[in-house]
Amino acid sequence: MENKLFSVHQFLCYNRTMSDHYEFPYPSKELESRHPFSVYEHERLSEEVMEAKAKDFYHKMDARRSVRMFSPDPVPQKLIELAIQAASTAPSGAHKQPWTFVATNDPEIKREIRAAAEEEEEKNYLENRMNEEWQEALAPLGTDHHKEFLQVAPWIIVLFEQRYETLSDGTTLKNYYVKESVGIAAGMFITALHHMGLATLTHTPTPMKFLNTILGRPKNERPFVLFPVGYPLEGVKVPDLNRKELNEIFTTVF
Ligand SMILES: Cc1cc2nc3c(=O)[nH]c(=O)nc-3n(C[C@H](O)[C@H](O)[C@H](O)COP(=O)(O)O)c2cc1C
Repeated sequence: MENKLFSVHQFLCYNRTMSDHYEFPYPSKELESRHPFSVYEHERLSEEVMEAKAKDFYHKMDARRSVRMFSPDPVPQKLIELAIQAASTAPSGAHKQPWTFVATNDPEIKREIRAAAEEEEEKNYLENRMNEEWQEALAPLGTDHHKEFLQVAPWIIVLFEQRYETLSDGTTLKNYYVKESVGIAAGMFITALHHMGLATLTHTPTPMKFLNTILGRPKNERPFVLFPVGYPLEGVKVPDLNRKELNEIFTTVF
């Protein structure tokens, strides 16, 4: 019965004229008179060139690994800044850019972060704050509560999400899709580091509230991910992980 009869909603949709050309150009003249717009610069490439670039990028990304032992060799601040600038090109809900990247290469601050992270991780790993299923999932990675890399890596960058925005007069404004936006920026940060030849680890020594205290961040900010950054220690080993095949993560609907 249900399949044969149109619902009111279907009827309305069916009768709405939906053409495949732009009847409502964006931006409208009225919109453009109120907000500035500019022409998007875009170079259209041949499909052959696009495929070559896409394959190259995929292979480059497939070679990225999280490392848990870093070289202590220094990394210029300029490189960290460039990766953060690249990350901050990420799309964000209502273009609120609800992120703050806090970087330190100060040995004393890194030592404090390591001590606080290890204290939390001891509870996670040794006092069963992580349940058995979680611990089993982590077993192939061989992670534990020791976080020496937090002191050895030349840089620690903590990405904070801005749950809301505070103006200088104290007024607060909402941010939108904060986790989605900051997650995309995090991915782009990791990609930028890998692209320039640096390594990192996506690290979440939960709960991470201690990072607000150590790094002096305001209460509208919440730690999202902590990234030790540097060169991988020469000869560092990583777990032999398989990535899912395309047919496991992709489907089509025609
Ligand atoms: C949100 C998130 C949190 C993570 N937290 C940790 C962590 O606290 N400690 C750790 O050693 N690895 C952590 N990882 C890294 C994952 O274990 C790693 O990405 C995964 O094993 C795949 O390895 P790959 O990054 O080398 O591809 C985290 C990754 C993500 C995305």
